[in-house]
Amino acid sequence: MQDYHEFLEGVLIDEEALQNRIRELGQEISRDYQDKDLLLICILRGGVMFLTDLMRSLTVPHTIDFMAVSSYGVGVRQSSGQVRITLDLNTSIEGRDVLLVEDIIDSGKTIAYVLDMLRTRRPRSLQVCALLDKAERREADVPIHYRGFTIPNKFVFGYGLDLDEYYRNLPFIGVVDPNRVVIPE
Ligand code: PRP
Repeated sequence: MQDYHEFLEGVLIDEEALQNRIRELGQEISRDYQDKDLLLICILRGGVMFLTDLMRSLTVPHTIDFMAVSSYGVGVRQSSGQVRITLDLNTSIEGRDVLLVEDIIDSGKTIAYVLDMLRTRRPRSLQVCALLDKAERREADVPIHYRGFTIPNKFVFGYGLDLDEYYRNLPFIGVVDPNRVVIPE
């Protein structure tokens, strides 16, 4: 396994900035979800780091659940919009106040599909919390109620986001140097 320093162009968001922003999001969500029945749904796998830090900053009672989806069709970096559920929720969301927790929204196709699908299960409310918003790449019009950072159209990794499935553990968001690594299209 290559040392990531070999292809790290730079750190886009360092650990302190990430943690500070997540604390702010946690405070905001805690204010908004007082007296609600909050269920956080993490979309695996990228959202895991964000979920666990966000939970620690929440002061309102909540439960968690997980789902996994895979998009297929175009390639590694591009969603086709054809999304398949590979792991479904364990719990019913009917009547619950659902907050989807995502690491990154790129084209928006994944979250658009998940929102449509979950709406049919009649939650009381359904909102989206995304750590990173790669807004330039948006193709589907999706609402983001809580946004950590808007980022440029660069290939990023770390803090839940993988590079060929590795490096999700890094505590910061880094930018891949396109001259040092082959980025799959
Ligand atoms: C990433 C991310 C979102 C999706 C965003 O997941 O976690 O689910 O892509 O892309 P979109 O807005 O263009 O649909 P990925 O498929 O890389 O899986 P992973 O979370 O397991 O790494």
